[in-house]
Amino acid sequence: MLISVPFSYRIFFWNLPIRFIFDAFKILCMLEKILILDFGSQYTQLIGRRVRELNVYCEIHPYNHFPAIDESVKGIILSGSPFSVRDEDHPEIDLTSIKGNLPVLGVCYGAQYMVHFFGGEVAPSGSREYGRANLKYIDHENELFTGISDDTQVWMSHGDTIEKIPSNYKVIASTNDVKYAAYKVEGEKTYAIQFHPEVYHTTEGKLLLYNYIVNICSCRQTWTPASFIETTIDHLKETLKNDKVVLGLSGGVDSSVAAVLLNRAIGENLTCIFVDNGLLRKDEFNKVLNQYVGMGLNVVGVDAKQKFWNDLKGITEPEGKRKTIGRDFIEVFDQEAHKIQDVKWLAQGTIYPDVIESVSVNGPSATIKSHHNVGGLPEKMKLKIIEPLKSLFKDEVRRVGRELGINQKLLGRHPFPGPGLGIRILGEVTPEKVEMLQEADAIFVKCLHEWDLYDKVWQAGVMLLPVQSVGVMGDERTYENVVALRAVTSTDGMTADWVHLPYDFLARVSNEIINKVRGINRVVYDISSKPPATIEWE
Ligand code: XMP
Repeated sequence: MLISVPFSYRIFFWNLPIRFIFDAFKILCMLEKILILDFGSQYTQLIGRRVRELNVYCEIHPYNHFPAIDESVKGIILSGSPFSVRDEDHPEIDLTSIKGNLPVLGVCYGAQYMVHFFGGEVAPSGSREYGRANLKYIDHENELFTGISDDTQVWMSHGDTIEKIPSNYKVIASTNDVKYAAYKVEGEKTYAIQFHPEVYHTTEGKLLLYNYIVNICSCRQTWTPASFIETTIDHLKETLKNDKVVLGLSGGVDSSVAAVLLNRAIGENLTCIFVDNGLLRKDEFNKVLNQYVGMGLNVVGVDAKQKFWNDLKGITEPEGKRKTIGRDFIEVFDQEAHKIQDVKWLAQGTIYPDVIESVSVNGPSATIKSHHNVGGLPEKMKLKIIEPLKSLFKDEVRRVGRELGINQKLLGRHPFPGPGLGIRILGEVTPEKVEMLQEADAIFVKCLHEWDLYDKVWQAGVMLLPVQSVGVMGDERTYENVVALRAVTSTDGMTADWVHLPYDFLARVSNEIINKVRGINRVVYDISSKPPATIEWE
């Protein structure tokens, strides 16, 4: 006998398993991660980036703040370190509960530490083990080396070397100088390499990491911008419920992406505040404000130019200016935020490198960089903090922004510092100097676009120097200001190189600035890299 089931019930029954499977899949994607145990190497963040490039979520934790391991952890990577396992105060962790129970990949110090900890020998290297080397022996049967070519180039960077491995360890790759370039522990998914797979010069490093993460740890590669957006919006809805949230917009990529994500999750309960501190680029305030409104964000624009300019009067020292700008921002933001009834949360566009910037391997605590432009706000306002982007690298934030449909022009903007032109006007800031610099900066940026150079440069700007120089215009002697153009390439602002801009381009910018901006009669180009210089001059 056929029983007729009402249509709505059929939809319910059919949807149940599909939704169930879908939710289960979502949970599985969310719960899959690689943990990187950081012993302080300069390359640790790069390992993290490489794992994420394989669409697998990973977290970096200081070795002395290692989280509890649950079923979401599919594998562990032990990083390199500036320390030697022979140093008295070398970073140490008890590996007995990890090794053998989960896939482990030791890299450089991580490889040496596993040998040292489990009874092998590590000694100073007799020969050079820095830079390029080639793997002369590879165990092609080993799953870590699937598809890796004979003689492949790897990058070494260590002063110590492994002299003797414990009895159940097996060599799986060697160079001419380094016998234990890679080893495996028999009967376990434990591997180690003394070279760095994450650096560009290890030509098949990405494939080796793929072999470890996908083939050995069985990660599904489901970490994509779309999956991030979906799980983050769910998480934000669950955490914030019906609470009100305030967020400071800066016109930059991070705060804009954070705002759009929050807006998708909680709509009108998010209020964004965009402050004109009188130190923004030319016409920036109105342009960006209109763009935000067009994106459907609930934005309050605050004109606080005069307050910032008044408070900056007479201050010439860089740190004094930064502190004044930071304090004024907090005051203005606090005042505006108090106009929102019952606001409970402060949202910030903090990204991953801000959180893991540096790890102190000397002491028991991790040193976390605290450079948020709204530093001090949460305590003053007694608000809880929400940071939806704090697990993402900068390029991932851009990818998420693209997936959210944010305008490419906004996403491709160069970074701009919180204290704005205040730290590009050397010495005292005055409204007249701000206007002069805004004009010169606008010409530089416009020319970069016209010559199709804007996207090839990571950051560009103009500095107004506290120097007057003699010039001649027509038959008149002039005694006016000097500006320096700055354009750098970088990946994260930590290191940077000056860009070799074409001479014709520089000539054109210089000409236009001197002809059009009153008060400037000389333009120079900054050819310093970071380090030793910094990107901003103050
Ligand atoms: P430096 O000058 O330290 O700058 O080489 C590195 C990067 O950081 C930006 N920067 C700041 N960003 N608040 C910010 O939001 C600040 O106080 C600040 N100071 C520097 C700088 O523009 C560059 O991108």
